[in-house]
Amino acid sequence: MDVSAMHQGNRLGWNEGAARYAERVEEEIAFLRGGGNALLPPELRFLGDLRAWCRRAIHLQCAAGEDTLSLWNLGAGEIIGIDISDAMIDLARRKSAALGAPARWFRSDVLATPHELDGTADLVYTGKGALNWLHDIESWARVVARLLAPGGRFYLFEGHPITWIFDQEGAAPQLDPRYGDYFSERPEPDQGWPATYIGELSRPREELAVKWERQWSLGAVINVLIAAGLRVERFEEHPDRYWRQFPNMPDAVANKFPHTYSLLMRKDGM
Ligand SMILES: C[S@@+](CC[C@H](N)C(=O)[O-])C[C@H]1O[C@@H](n2cnc3c(N)ncnc32)[C@H](O)[C@@H]1O
Repeated sequence: MDVSAMHQGNRLGWNEGAARYAERVEEEIAFLRGGGNALLPPELRFLGDLRAWCRRAIHLQCAAGEDTLSLWNLGAGEIIGIDISDAMIDLARRKSAALGAPARWFRSDVLATPHELDGTADLVYTGKGALNWLHDIESWARVVARLLAPGGRFYLFEGHPITWIFDQEGAAPQLDPRYGDYFSERPEPDQGWPATYIGELSRPREELAVKWERQWSLGAVINVLIAAGLRVERFEEHPDRYWRQFPNMPDAVANKFPHTYSLLMRKDGM
């Protein structure tokens, strides 16, 4: 299976999953209109006040745009979202139109992000379940680097790959029979969604699109970005969670391992 075929499968899968995001559009518009911000504490801490340094933020794999529009609420002068899902981009357009936000949205595979955006971003932002859908991380890193303006920052807030290897139903960390190998590079096909995230859709699981996921180790992510020309400024692992990945695990157990990480990198100025 080649990269673009897997990405197209994921496009169909996310077009289906967008149905759940569509249910929250009006609520999110009201939240954002009131100055709300969907970014989590580590993200806010890493990004700071965007008014001070960010004229243009580009959000890769922006889904329905709630985090993208939160970057605007945090002070970005202009926001741009890229996502492969037609349905997600439609939802993002609806939200920004309702809010009158200075936003542009591109329905595109992240690997084919339009070249007209090259060298223009003060911030490239992504994460929260983004990289596991990609099957060519070297090309992705080159896209991040080409989008950044000289001196621009890349911020990744992503699910920690250690969480990938544990059984999601477990009450304590135990290796998942299928995904329990941190170093596996195998793309895994799947249909349907976890109950704690998108859950059941109107069609049976076997009729849904086959999606392809894989996990990327911390070393793989950091090294491709360095090879693309970025410099590490700060890296942190966090107990913070952005979704209920382990619904049966008590906090006292779950808080003992990282669930997310932050990677802040810089493209050198001229
Ligand atoms: C879990 S979401 C990312 C987190 C997002 N901030 C949210 O609020 O849910 C994953 C997104 O990645 C997008 N995606 C998956 N593969 C992609 C690709 N190759 N290029 C661009 N977007 C992609 C999906 O359409 C989906 O909207």
